[in-house]
Amino acid sequence: MRVPLLSLSLLTGTTLAATYKAHNFSTPIDHFHNETRYAPHTNHTFNLRYWFDADHYEPGGPVFVIAAGETNGEDRFEFLSNGIVTQLAATYHGLGVILEHRYYGESYPFPGDDVSVEDLRFLSTEQSLADYAYFAQNVVFPGLEEFDLTAPNTPWIAYGGSYAGAQVAFMRKLYPDIFHGAVSSSGVTAAIVDYWKYYEPIRNYGPVECIEAIQTLTDIIDRILIDHPENKTLHSQLKSAFGVESDTDNKDFVNGLSTPLGTFQSRNWDPAVGSYEFRHYCDNITAPDPVYPVTNGTASLPGLLKAAGYNASDTALLASLRNYIGYMNPPSSSSSTESKDEDEDKNEDEDEPTGNERLPKSDGTSWNYQVCTEWGYFMPGSSVPPHIKPLISRLIDLNYTSSFCNSIYGISTPPNITLINQHGGFNFSYPRVAIIGGTADPWRDATPHAEGLPGRKSTDAEPFMLIDVPAERVWDGIRGAVHHWDQNGVSSNQTGVEVPVEIVAAQSEIVRFVGVWLGEDEEETLSGSAEDL
Ligand SMILES: *[C@@H]1O[C@H](CO)[C@@H](O)[C@H](O)[C@H]1NC(C)=O
Ligand SMILES: *[C@@H]1O[C@H](CO)[C@@H](O)[C@H](O)[C@H]1NC(C)=O
Ligand SMILES: *[C@@H]1O[C@H](CO)[C@@H](O)[C@H](O)[C@H]1NC(C)=O
Ligand SMILES: *[C@@H]1O[C@H](CO)[C@@H](O)[C@H](O)[C@H]1NC(C)=O
Ligand SMILES: *[C@@H]1O[C@H](CO)[C@@H](O)[C@H](O)[C@H]1NC(C)=O
Ligand SMILES: *[C@@H]1O[C@H](CO)[C@@H](O)[C@H](O)[C@H]1NC(C)=O
Ligand SMILES: *[C@@H]1O[C@H](CO)[C@@H](O)[C@H](O)[C@H]1NC(C)=O
Ligand SMILES: *[C@@H]1O[C@H](CO)[C@@H](O)[C@H](O)[C@H]1NC(C)=O
Ligand SMILES: *[C@@H]1O[C@H](CO)[C@@H](O)[C@H](O)[C@H]1NC(C)=O
Ligand SMILES: *[C@@H]1O[C@H](CO)[C@@H](O)[C@H](O)[C@H]1NC(C)=O
Ligand SMILES: *[C@@H]1O[C@H](CO)[C@@H](O)[C@H](O)[C@H]1NC(C)=O
Repeated sequence: MRVPLLSLSLLTGTTLAATYKAHNFSTPIDHFHNETRYAPHTNHTFNLRYWFDADHYEPGGPVFVIAAGETNGEDRFEFLSNGIVTQLAATYHGLGVILEHRYYGESYPFPGDDVSVEDLRFLSTEQSLADYAYFAQNVVFPGLEEFDLTAPNTPWIAYGGSYAGAQVAFMRKLYPDIFHGAVSSSGVTAAIVDYWKYYEPIRNYGPVECIEAIQTLTDIIDRILIDHPENKTLHSQLKSAFGVESDTDNKDFVNGLSTPLGTFQSRNWDPAVGSYEFRHYCDNITAPDPVYPVTNGTASLPGLLKAAGYNASDTALLASLRNYIGYMNPPSSSSSTESKDEDEDKNEDEDEPTGNERLPKSDGTSWNYQVCTEWGYFMPGSSVPPHIKPLISRLIDLNYTSSFCNSIYGISTPPNITLINQHGGFNFSYPRVAIIGGTADPWRDATPHAEGLPGRKSTDAEPFMLIDVPAERVWDGIRGAVHHWDQNGVSSNQTGVEVPVEIVAAQSEIVRFVGVWLGEDEEETLSGSAEDL
C-alpha cells in the first residue's frame, strides 16, 4: 500500500524569498483541559517558531499574520518577503509575521526525532487555532518591545491558503475580538471524507486532449484489471509493460499510476515557485511519436489494448500508451515506478498497530494524522459517478485510500468531520472574512466556491472572489487559477516574470478591502452586517 498524496499545499520550485531569523514563542501544549479527547492532559508548554519582517512597520500599524499550515514555516518565507502580505504590510505600514503550526517544522511539543500516536493527540485544528489566538494576545516582538503589538490593542489580520485558509477563517469566527479580519485563500472550510471531486477541476480545466488521454489510459487499465479479474497472465503482462513486479497488488499498481495528477496542484503562474510537470505529463501522453527510446514489453501492447476492448491497431493509442509507460518508468532511471515509491512507504507499519509505534516527525506524519482524525479528503476513483470517465482507477476505493489510518495510527473510526464543519462548512461566512478561490483549484470543491453552490454577492464586509486566469497568461498554457494564486508575488530580484493581470487585480482588491476593514472598529461591522448573515 502506498500513502496517497495528501498535502494540501504543494509549492515546488526554487524560491527567491528572503530568509528570516527564527524566534520562539512559548504556548500551552493543551488549551482544552475540559475536553476528554486530549486526556491525559498536561500543563506544560512548548515553543512555536515564528519569523517576522518589520521593514514596513511604523508605530500604530497593524499585524499581518501568515498561518503556515501543514508544513515547515520556512516554506512560507516567500509569502512574507514578496507576496500579498508584503503588499499589505507595505501599504498599511504593518508588521508581517509567519507563525508555524504545532507539530510541523520545529514546533513540536515533544522532543526527539519521532512521535508516538499518543503524543499526536494535541495535534488538532482547535488546539492550533488556540495557539494563534494566544500568540496574538501575548507575543512581544524582539526589538519592538516598546510597542504593544498584541491583539486587540493592535489590529491583527490573518492570512492563510488551503488548510491554513480554513484556519484563518475559523480564527476570525472563534476569536473575533482577537482577529480583526481574515483572508482565506483556497480555504478548505468543508471537511469531506470521500473527496473524489479533487480530480474534477483537473478534468474540467486540464487541456482537453490530455484529459481525454488520461481518461482513456485509465480506462484501458481498468478494463484489463476489472473485466479480466482472474487472468493473472494478462495482469502480469500489463504490469511488466510498466516495469512493475507481477505480484504487485492491483490497487498499489493503479495507485502508483495516479501520482502525476498531483502535479496539477503544484502549478503556479510564477515559474519560480510553480511546477511545469503537469504540462510535461500531458505532452508525453499525447505525443504522436515515441518519447522514450526503449519501452520493455512494447510487443504486448496491442494484445493489452485488445483485451481492454480497444482497437489494437490504433497507432495514436499505441503511442499514447507507450509514452505513458515511458513517462511512468523512464528507461534512463534505474528505479522503477515501484521502487520510486518505496521511500514514501517507509513510515508504514503493516503489522497490527498498537498505537505505541514511534513515527518519524514529518509533515506527512502530522498531516495524515489530521486527515484521519478530523479532515478526511480521501480521494477514491470508485466514487466517481458512472457518467464521468475518471482520471484515476475505479479500483481505488475509499477503504484503500483510508486504510493507512489504521495501519499507521491504529485509527479505525472515520475522521470526525463535524469538528470542522460545525464552523459552517461550505456555508462558512463571517464579517471581515474574505473567501478567495481559484477556478481550477483541485481543492475548490471543499470551499465555499465549490461547483454547484449558489454564488454569493461580494461585499467589503465579506469579499467573495474567484480568480480565473486565461491559458495565454499562464506559462504552461493551462487555463484557470489553481491553489491560493493570490498569495505569492514576484520578488524585486526576479526579472522577466509578468504577473497575470488577474492576479494583480485580485491582490489590489485584497489590499483595498483590508484597508476598509482597518478603518472599522469591531462593533460597526458586526452590527452593520447582521442583516446579511
Ligand atoms: C534579493 O537578493 C538578495 C541577494 O541575493 C537577498 O539578500 C535578498 O534577500 C533578496 N530579496 C528578496 C526580496 O528576495
Ligand atoms: C527555540 O526552542 C528550541 C527548543 O524548543 C531550541 O532548540 C531553539 O534553539 C530555540 N530557538 C531560539 C531561536 O531560541
Ligand atoms: C471547552 O472550553 C471551550 C472554551 O474554553 C469551549 O468552547 C468548549 O465548548 C468546551 N468544551 C467542552 C467539551 O465543554
Ligand atoms: C494543571 O494545573 C491546574 C492548576 O494548578 C491543576 O489543577 C491541574 O491538576 C493541572 N493539570 C495537570 C494535568 O497537571
Ligand atoms: C488471458 O488473456 C490472454 C491475453 O488476452 C488470453 O490469450 C488468454 O486466453 C486469457 N486467459 C484466460 C484464462 O482467459
Ligand atoms: C528492459 O529490458 C532489458 C533487457 O531485457 C532489461 O535489462 C531491463 O532491466 C528492462 N527494464 C525494465 C525497466 O524492466
Ligand atoms: C516527457 O516528460 C519528461 C519528464 O517530465 C520531460 O522531461 C520531457 O520533456 C517530456 N517530453 C515530452 C516530449 O513532452
Ligand atoms: C483501428 O485503427 C486502425 C488504424 O487507425 C484503423 O485503420 C481501423 O479502421 C480501426 N478499426 C476499427 C474497428 O475502428
Ligand atoms: C480494506 O483495506 C484493508 C487494508 O488494505 C484490507 O485488509 C481489507 O481487506 C479491505 N477491506 C475491504 C472490504 O476491502
Ligand atoms: C464529533 O465531534 C462532534 C463535535 O465536537 C461531537 O459532538 C461528536 O460527538 C463527535 N463524534 C464522535 C463520533 O466522536
Ligand atoms: C447551507 O445553506 C444552504 C442554503 O442556505 C442550506 O440549504 C444548507 O442546509 C446549508 N448547509 C449546511 C451544512 O449548513
